[in-house]
Amino acid sequence: MYKMWAVPGISSSSWSFLLVLCLVLKISVLSRGGITSSYVRKLQKSVDMPLDSDVFRVPPGYNAPQQVHITQGDLVGKAVIVSWVTTDEPGSNTVLYWSENSKLKLKAEGTVLRYKFYTYTSGYIHNCTLENLKFNTKYYYQVGIGNTTRTFWFTTPPEIGPDVPYTFGLIGDLGQTYDSNMTLTHYEQNPAKGQAVLYVGDLSYADKYPNHDNERWDTWGRFMERSVAYQPWFWSAGNHDIDFAPEIDETDLFKPYTNRYPTPNQASNSSSPLYYAIKRASAYVIVLSSYTACGKFTPQYIWLDNELKKVNRSETPWLIVIMHAPLYNSYEAHFMEGETMRVVFEPFFVENKVDFVFAGHLHAYERSHRISNINYEIVNKDCTPVRNQSSPVYIIFGDGGNIEGLNLDMREPQPDHSAFREASFGHAILEIKNRTHAYYHWHRNQDGYAVKAESKWFYNRYWHPVDED
Ligand SMILES: [Fe+2]
Repeated sequence: MYKMWAVPGISSSSWSFLLVLCLVLKISVLSRGGITSSYVRKLQKSVDMPLDSDVFRVPPGYNAPQQVHITQGDLVGKAVIVSWVTTDEPGSNTVLYWSENSKLKLKAEGTVLRYKFYTYTSGYIHNCTLENLKFNTKYYYQVGIGNTTRTFWFTTPPEIGPDVPYTFGLIGDLGQTYDSNMTLTHYEQNPAKGQAVLYVGDLSYADKYPNHDNERWDTWGRFMERSVAYQPWFWSAGNHDIDFAPEIDETDLFKPYTNRYPTPNQASNSSSPLYYAIKRASAYVIVLSSYTACGKFTPQYIWLDNELKKVNRSETPWLIVIMHAPLYNSYEAHFMEGETMRVVFEPFFVENKVDFVFAGHLHAYERSHRISNINYEIVNKDCTPVRNQSSPVYIIFGDGGNIEGLNLDMREPQPDHSAFREASFGHAILEIKNRTHAYYHWHRNQDGYAVKAESKWFYNRYWHPVDED
């Protein structure tokens, strides 16, 4: 019988050592590849909550403001846009607001609008920008002045600086099902809950109803108020926000979305509310539109090119891009749908050492390694993404829990660029600690509980471009 130990000059203990070394090396090589989570969610249909659900309750009182929500109103975080809807009459456009330590109520005047969508007419949608706020200050604000007045509060971000810690919630494709409610509740109950939310598109899924029943935009607004009235959410538009319905003569793209969810696009010289940028604490966030032309010389391309030149990593070390359709995705659903944008924008992301590209659209979760495919061109056919430490990590969290359900089918074998994937609903959190380190974690909805399914430290690409793997 062959005895592997019987090699002159090599003792059995040395063989054991070599064997262990080989195993360790094999495991470390394997760990460079991707993980497909073994967790399988109990399969059940995702059902929209009925119209009489408590989360859709209309606030009591004559002309009471409803669907109250806030977002950043300028480039740096010293302004907040307050939006709300009244239904009995237009009512007041005034917002009264005061800082926690002041009795002096300040006053801002907004505007009101209505829009029609087929046979639906919206309530009176109010938007009002509060300006010249102090950084890092809690403010109370009141809407519905003169009728039913309601009071809310928010905290402004700290002043911008390279080592200012800040935490973002990361949510996408939420909709208004029982699962959506679970995701939002888990986010709110997370001890590391964000100070603001980066939302990667597809809001209400009203377009799943006959004639895009816009009442479902109203229910979504009321459902979300418990979070969005108290902390800013940064909106990006998804395909379910296009509301293109030529069969009922509704061809004005993004009509409900843009009328209801204003963005501070002018502060970053964007001519479209669908793409814009904001700075917050130590982060520079660029919001892109997957459903707006992005080819060379289009307005979005020119804007992004100019915007990236403004980023100063000594001021805002963390460069984050959000969009709806993912550029890298190893599921069957929406595979390569982001390819048109990837071909044009990926070189920008690598040149500028973007830290993260967050996307939704896929109703599941996936995180990539740092990879790029910028070498590919139509002649060389060199189309396999390669590890690149100047590249962003691409994370998909279109797993909010909407009516369309989960995307379960994954492409096999798991490609090298995919680091972790799991078909579950959930939410994620990004905790920026300083200019070099950020702690990231994703939480699945598991049998009514939020379970931390993966977490990882990420290093800043400009200040500490070390391989996290
Ligand atoms: Fe989508």
